[in-house]
Amino acid sequence: MRVTRAVYPGSFDPPTNGHLDVIERAARCFGEVIVAVVVNPQKRSPMFSLEEREAMLRSSVAAIPNVRVEHFRGLLADYVKAESADVIVKGLRVVSDFESEMSAAMMNRSLSDVDTLFLMSDQRYSFVSSSLVKEVFFLGGEVAALVPEPVLRMMTEKRTTLQRR
Ligand code: PNS
Repeated sequence: MRVTRAVYPGSFDPPTNGHLDVIERAARCFGEVIVAVVVNPQKRSPMFSLEEREAMLRSSVAAIPNVRVEHFRGLLADYVKAESADVIVKGLRVVSDFESEMSAAMMNRSLSDVDTLFLMSDQRYSFVSSSLVKEVFFLGGEVAALVPEPVLRMMTEKRTTLQRR
C-alpha cells in the first residue's frame, strides 16, 4: 500500500519552532512529509541562501525519519503533481492566517486538484514568524526559544559575517 505523501511548502527564511511544530504534527499524520523550500520567495529576496535554508531544515528534522527536505521552483501545484503528492500541508497560527491561505488553497486545487490540509501550530508559537524572528535577532533581541538550535547557530554566524562587512 502506498503511503500518503504530504508537501509542506514555505520560504523558511529562517525556519522557526512554529515550522518545526507543524512538521512534527504532519509527520504523525502522514506516511511521508516533504518539506519543500521555495527557491525564490515571492515576498522579498531571502536573507538566507537556498543552501542555508535547506541545511537549517535538514539539521532541525534529522530525528524525524519520514521527513525529507527538498526545494522547488515555479508553481507549487506543478511540484506537488511532479512528486505525486496527495496533499499540501499548511500551518495556521491565528485566524487571520486563514484569509490568504484559503485563496491559495483554492488556487492550488484549481491548478492541480490537490487539497490543502491545515494544521494548527501550538499556541506558544502563534506570534512567531520568520520575519519577526529576523528583525528581533538582528537588532540584538533574544530568540533562542523561538528557533531550533541549528537555526540559532546559522543566524549567529550570519550576524557575525554581516557585522564584519
Ligand atoms: O513561507 P511562505 O513564504 O509563506 O511560503 C509561501 C509559499 C512558498 C507556500 C508560496 O509562495 C508558494 O506556493 N510559492 C510558489 C509559487 C506558487 O505556486 N504560487 C501560487 C500559490 S497559490
